[in-house]
Parts: sequence; C-alpha cells; structure tokens
Amino acid sequence: MTDQPGRPPEERLPAPRPSSAPVPGARFSAPPSAHRNDLTPERAAKIVRQSASARWVGFLAVTVVALFVIGYYFYEIGLPGGMSKPRLQAASEDQQVTAVERGYNIYQANCAQCHGVQGQGGKGPVLNRQDKLFAHLNADYIRSMLQVGGRYACGNALSIMPIWSNTGTPPGPLNYKQINDIIAFLRASKADTYRVLDPSLFEPVIDKGTGKVKTFTGWVDPNYQPAAGATPYPACWQAEFTKATPAPAASGAPSAGASGAPASQAPAGSTVSETALNVAFGTAALTAPAGADFTLNFDNQDAGIPHNIVIKDASGATVFTGDLITGPKQIAYSVKALAAGDYTFICAVHPNMMGTLKVGS
Ligand code: HEC
Repeated sequence: MTDQPGRPPEERLPAPRPSSAPVPGARFSAPPSAHRNDLTPERAAKIVRQSASARWVGFLAVTVVALFVIGYYFYEIGLPGGMSKPRLQAASEDQQVTAVERGYNIYQANCAQCHGVQGQGGKGPVLNRQDKLFAHLNADYIRSMLQVGGRYACGNALSIMPIWSNTGTPPGPLNYKQINDIIAFLRASKADTYRVLDPSLFEPVIDKGTGKVKTFTGWVDPNYQPAAGATPYPACWQAEFTKATPAPAASGAPSAGASGAPASQAPAGSTVSETALNVAFGTAALTAPAGADFTLNFDNQDAGIPHNIVIKDASGATVFTGDLITGPKQIAYSVKALAAGDYTFICAVHPNMMGTLKVGS
C-alpha cells in the first residue's frame, strides 16, 4: 500500500465496521443436528480396528529398523568372540592380498631379471635375506630406491638400477599404485600364501601338472630377530662386502701347509687371469702354483656391477678376499702363497658366481 497524493498517510488500523451492522451469528446458533457426526456403530468399530492394525504396522516397522541397526553394528565392528572380522579390517586385508598378488607380477616382469625370481640376487643385490629385510629394506627405503634409482643406495651415479617411478627424473615406467604393489610384495610375510594371478586377466593361474592354483609366499619372516649384539645392516649394501676382510687369517693358514713346498716350484710373480661378464666368471677353472705368491688379474667387464674374488679352501674357510671393483675395471690382486690343493672361488656379491682353483702342479 502506498500513500496517495492528496490523501493523509495510510495507517494499518483495523478496518472500521459500521456499528449498526449485526454480528453474524449463524455459527453459534445452528441447531444440534448440524453438529451430529453420523457414525453408525459398525463404522465406529471399523475405525477402531483400523487404528489397531496401524499400530501393528508401526510396531513392525520400528522392529525391522531396530534389527537392521543391531545387525549393521555387528557387521561393522565384527561379531563378539572373533566370529567375524570388523568390516574395515577385512576390507583392508583383502586389499593387501590384491596388492601383493599384483606386486608379484610387477616384480617378475621388471625386477626379477636383475634381482632374481626369488630375490636371490643377480646383477642387482640380493633382496630376500632376512637380515636385509628386517630393517634395511623397509617400505620407505624401497620407495626411495624406485624414485631415485640405483644411485640412492651407495651414491653410484653409474648404477644400472634405473629410476622406476613415473614421478622420478627422468620419469620411469611405474605409477605410484604399481610401486605400492611392489612394496606390498617385497614386504609380504613368509607365513602367508598368495595366488599367482595371470598378469593380464587377473585370474588365478592353474598349474598344469597338479591342477591346483599356483601359489607363492612372501619373503619376510615375521619371527626373525637379528642376533643379539649384531651390527645393523649397513646403509650402503656394498659395505657388507668391503668391511672386515679375513685376509690376515688367509696369509697365516696356507703358509703352515706350504712350509714344505719350495718356492722354486713356480717362479715368483706368476699371474692368473679371470674375467667377469654378465654376472658369471669367464673361466670356471683356474690353476695356480703352490707355495708361491701369485698375481690374480681380475677384469670386471660388467658395467655398473661390483664384483670381487673370494678364494675358499676345501673346508670352506676364506683364504683370500679381493677388493670389490665396479666394472668396467681391472685390478691385480696379490694372493699370498697357497698350499697345494683344490680351492673354490666366488664373488662375494654374487655367491652364485663360482669357479674352482687348482693349486699345485
Ligand atoms: C638392470 C638391473 C636392475 C633392475 C631391472 C632392477 N634393479 Fe634394483 N638394483 C640393481 C642394482 C645394480 C642395485 C644396486 C644399486 C647400486 O648400488 O648400484 C639395485 C638395488 C636395489 C635395491 C636396494 C638393495 C639394497 O640392498 O640396498 C632395491 C630395493 C631394488 N634394487 C629394488 C628393485 C625393484 C623393486 C626393481 C623392479 C621394479 C628393481 N630393483 C629392478 C639392479 C636392478
């Protein structure tokens, strides 16, 4: 309402009623018949029955909802007495199994060529040993290795271990999910058995021989404890092979046996040569003179891979440990006189590299 020109401003007052008009009174003066509700006794009884069933419907509905709430409560937190697992825990366990099973395939496709199908090592260091898995190969360390590449381990810029993460520089082939799956696999427990899944179908692989689903177990022994007082695994895995060479013992032991053998048997300064390529020794059988120092020329042709030569006698005791060299590199080891006999030699980093050394004529 707006004020009109020429009229006084409007006010919200009750509309005036001419005092002469009578108050409409029909409402109050209607006869009693107008107020009667015409319910027959049958109709009244029906209404009573209907409201009783309505109460039942309400009661049942409330009961159903209450039962659902109680049931859902136990579904969520697990049945008492461990009869069923809490839902979240069961879901995360399922997810862990899936991650391990996928990680297994990613490992076999990408890592096994260097670290071995079982993690036993090869061009790359061993990954499945308990003392390494205990603390050294933790999830964060593995993640950093895959992010930064082999240089992360010992600072070796020429390491052949590539960068795997697609957020690395330069980016590698694996995304964060695949890296999480690999870590789940590397950290999986020995106590658990997982199914081998087809890499493309994600269906369990059936062993043709037995007709059963192929399985694998994790590597980590959950009960492993390092020996009391053991030194922790070194931050750089190569340090394991370069520390504490048992060389002094080596020079002492053979000299006792060689005391009778005259040095004249072999001219001093005779040389023996060995090569390493593709994580294998070039010559599997070497011969050396007995009772005389000799030079062992070692040519490591494996680019980016460290090797050395460790000589052991028939009892398995180490009599010579050569320095580790990362190829391509050559070194001349001076080996102290050895007693005549059969020896074996290995590479400390790759114990699967083996050869025999025959000392004597
Ligand atoms: C081309 C060979 C090669 C491939 C493929 C490879 N690695 Fe490596 N890896 C190495 C080498 C070599 C080292 C040692 C690093 C160094 O010091 O040079 C290493 C080191 C590691 C280490 C640290 C080991 C330790 O004892 O500290 C981990 C963990 C590792 N690799 C995981 C993996 C995973 C997971 C994959 C697969 C995605 C993989 N590697 C693929 C060669 C390889």
